[in-house]
Amino acid sequence: MADNQIQVVTVCGSLRKNSFNAALQRSLPSLAPPGISIKPAPSWADIPIYNFDVQSAGLPAPVTAWADALRAADGVIIVSPEYNWTIPGGLKNAIDWTSRMKDDPFKGKPVAIQSCAGGLLGGARMQYHLRQSLTSVEAVILIRPEVFVNFSAKKFDEKTLELTDQATKDMVKLQLEAFEKFVRQQNGKH
Ligand SMILES: Cc1cc2nc3c(=O)[nH]c(=O)nc-3n(C[C@H](O)[C@H](O)[C@H](O)COP(=O)(O)O)c2cc1C
Repeated sequence: MADNQIQVVTVCGSLRKNSFNAALQRSLPSLAPPGISIKPAPSWADIPIYNFDVQSAGLPAPVTAWADALRAADGVIIVSPEYNWTIPGGLKNAIDWTSRMKDDPFKGKPVAIQSCAGGLLGGARMQYHLRQSLTSVEAVILIRPEVFVNFSAKKFDEKTLELTDQATKDMVKLQLEAFEKFVRQQNGKH
């Protein structure tokens, strides 16, 4: 199986050191089926705010590094909080940059979405806005199972930030299994 593994990169929408979304992102390799290798994409933290004039002067290196990693992957998992009912600005900005590239890494790319949020909805509003933006760049998005981690402080160890909630682990495992099948179907990798 090892040489037939699909290569998936993860993107976190939060830059916070003790981010619950980053903690969920870190937990994914241990919850994944053996057919998927999961690694974090380079950070989008140093991507400047989109400006056509900056783009015309040459793509900034952090944009290229981020886009190259997404392009090389068989699939992408975005794990993000919800900010003010929508996509965190930094993550949206990174997607806006790649959408201006000739070879947009999201075009035809299988994508799965997960979110952790402090409130009851678990980032649902962000997920639906992200689906809308990703549809605009012609990503192919896994419809379900959906992963919403609500009241996230209760689902991770207070000190180590390890994911402890069994129901959440089960939900994530189901999504990763479905995502493996979805990526193989989309990429013709059987
Ligand atoms: C600017 C900002 C806006 C937020 N807006 C929302 C929101 O719309 N819905 C929500 O459920 N939580 C919202 N929150 C709370 C986040 O869910 C919570 O801080 C979460 O832990 C952030 O993710 P992280 O732990 O990965 O950094 C907001 C937090 C920030 C900093």
